[in-house]
Amino acid sequence: MLHVVTVCLYCSLHLLCIKFLVPVFIIDLAVFGAAQNRSYKRLADFTDTIGNRVSGSHNLEMAIKYMYNAIAQDGLYVHLEPVKIPHWVRGKESAEMILPRAKGLAILGLGSSVGTPPEGIEAEVLVVESFEELKRRASEAVGRIVVFNQPFVSYGETVAYRAYGASEAAKLGAVATLIRSITPYSINSPHTGWQDYQDGVKRIPTACITVEDAELMWRMAQRGQSIVVRLTMGAKTLPDADSFNTVVEITGWQHPEQVVLLSGHLDSWDVGQGAMDDGGGAMISWEALSLIKDLGLRPRRTLRTVLWTAEEQGGIGAQQYYNLHKVNMSNFDLVMESDLGTFTPVGLQFTGSDAARKVMEEVVKLLAPINTTKLETNGEGTDISPWMQAGVPGQLN
Ligand SMILES: *[C@@H]1O[C@H](CO)[C@@H](O)[C@H](O)[C@H]1NC(C)=O
Ligand SMILES: *[C@@H]1O[C@H](CO)[C@@H](O)[C@H](O)[C@H]1NC(C)=O
Ligand SMILES: [Zn+2]
Repeated sequence: MLHVVTVCLYCSLHLLCIKFLVPVFIIDLAVFGAAQNRSYKRLADFTDTIGNRVSGSHNLEMAIKYMYNAIAQDGLYVHLEPVKIPHWVRGKESAEMILPRAKGLAILGLGSSVGTPPEGIEAEVLVVESFEELKRRASEAVGRIVVFNQPFVSYGETVAYRAYGASEAAKLGAVATLIRSITPYSINSPHTGWQDYQDGVKRIPTACITVEDAELMWRMAQRGQSIVVRLTMGAKTLPDADSFNTVVEITGWQHPEQVVLLSGHLDSWDVGQGAMDDGGGAMISWEALSLIKDLGLRPRRTLRTVLWTAEEQGGIGAQQYYNLHKVNMSNFDLVMESDLGTFTPVGLQFTGSDAARKVMEEVVKLLAPINTTKLETNGEGTDISPWMQAGVPGQLN
């Protein structure tokens, strides 16, 4: 039921104050009205039905079909744009420390990693805490498994070890790399993610280990103990697969050619549900258009939701979308992405000119009833970064 608002909360005028009432109606429908918890229920049904959705998998194909049908049934206009995406398969994987004592190591192979020979790779370990230390000790890396025990600074900074650790070690003759998971917290849980082989550098197997095991091996190395590890990975890369970006749209009545883009990604990693990364972002990007439609509102500009494919493989779907649609760049007014988890929103991160920031400050004021009050700097995200690098204002939540 719609909670009736008779006076604008912002300017105390009457119902005539459409500019301020529209957000009130939207918030009312989403937070107290018929759409209460709707995006959560949609997310739960989606992840419970499909499960994880790694790039190139049958599950991802099913996920795109599921969303296409669900959005069409919701009464919104939806179409698919084809994209070729990587198809990496994890296979069986394991690692164990053999010296100085026997201990199983929890690992997760990194996306795009090559596998080991079937019998695995057994080698002595070199533990380093930084790329600088690796360079200093280059001669010790030859024939070794390099373990990176880099301290966690921030995801954005520390992720360089996961992304480039394998190639940096391979340049010095290492046979594999094990990277401390990129996280400030750990309950012996390894974290998977993308890694990037450099062209012209030998491709060596690479996996993440837990913070605990990285620190354990570092302490052992500090004591001068020799560490030997056996790593077995069945990972392989199959030919690129067919996939789609899913595009939902409400056409603007005044400037149909101008676009405000909202987005999240449908693919995920293969070892979880992909509920927060990024099922939630995809669901709220759909929900935003659902709410506008349910209220019978028609925006001035076109509202377009894009549910990207293969974000985890380096924003493949989004890059292709950019290449195809950048001819209309000057008509993209704002690009948005949600890929940080959809809990209680406290604010928005925004990058744009001072004039654009002034507009966003006004927008954030309208979100006061849901306590989303912060307007931070450094809006960025894998899927919207091509647009932002080209100067289109961008927002991340
Ligand atoms: C560019 O914008 C025009 C006008 O809205 C539209 O008809 C056309 O399909 C767009 N082209 C691409 C590649 O998005
Ligand atoms: C916003 O914060 C206030 C004060 O903590 C709280 O009473 C209210 O329920 C919050 N509103 C929403 C929509 O979460
Ligand atoms: Zn994500």
